[in-house]
Amino acid sequence: MIPATSPLAANGDTPDLPFYAASGDECMLFEQAWRNRLPVLLKGPTGCGKTRFVAHMAARLGRPLYTVACHDDLTAADLTGRHLLKGGETVWADGPLTRAMREGAILYLDEVVEARKDVTVVLHPVTDDRRTLTLERTGETLLAPPEFMLVVSYNPGYQNVLKSLKPSTRQRFVAMEFGYPDPDTEAAIVASETGLAPDRCVPLVRIANALRDLKGQDLDEGASTRLIVYAATLIKAGMKPAAAIDAALLQPLSDDPDVQAALARVADLALG
Ligand SMILES: Nc1ncnc2c1ncn2[C@@H]1O[C@H](COP(=O)(O)OP(=O)(O)OP(=O)(O)O)[C@@H](O)[C@H]1O
Ligand SMILES: [Mg+2]
Repeated sequence: MIPATSPLAANGDTPDLPFYAASGDECMLFEQAWRNRLPVLLKGPTGCGKTRFVAHMAARLGRPLYTVACHDDLTAADLTGRHLLKGGETVWADGPLTRAMREGAILYLDEVVEARKDVTVVLHPVTDDRRTLTLERTGETLLAPPEFMLVVSYNPGYQNVLKSLKPSTRQRFVAMEFGYPDPDTEAAIVASETGLAPDRCVPLVRIANALRDLKGQDLDEGASTRLIVYAATLIKAGMKPAAAIDAALLQPLSDDPDVQAALARVADLALG
């Protein structure tokens, strides 16, 4: 059973807790969703901390975490399980959804919009108040224990209309929107992730924010927190900042030479 008092430990209380700097009350919301058996949908741009947040919360809540990266070849059996041949015998092997339900784990489906709609429909009885999964092949019906939770995420930025969730799927989730952290928090994250001095992380965050302002004009997505971490990693390793900024913050954003030239100007201006 889920204990009535909060088992949540703060960052630093547990040595192997994945580091996550909160931007608001997302940790409390996630915990309440878990306690009340509600599935959660996380949406936000690439590299803004969604995966890290789930890893952090799973550890804080003391639940095992299974992650599946969704793609359009993913089948329902990839999630639920299948019979496998072992030494001349067929044995049933649980898929990650089945295993997570048996163990009361957190199942995280990353980029869920990439999965076909006939696959996401398998999640429907699991994500409404039934919380059940029927395995037709074995004749079993599993009831999810209270500790089980389904979390899905996607990046709403670059999906087209065909790649969206059916309303009957998305309306089974509590949704949380993620964005990039505010500049001070983001500089602290980059410093913590890389060991680069905080005052050397601040200009990188400033450049990233200037590049983010170009989203929708020249860019599909601005520079992510992940890319700032890459730039800081290269600088920490001894690379010159200009080269690290070009390789980690500018080149990944566009292949168009004119756009690249414009990005470089924006980065120069942001450095001041
Ligand atoms: N709030 C945060 N606290 C700690 N680290 C963070 C945070 N946000 C981002 N990061 C850093 O940025 C990196 C990228 O974050 P993460 O992989 O969680 O992004 P994501 O939102 O899952 O991206 P994608 O949609 O591409 O999967 C992390 O590995 C971590 O270094
Ligand atoms: Mg991710």
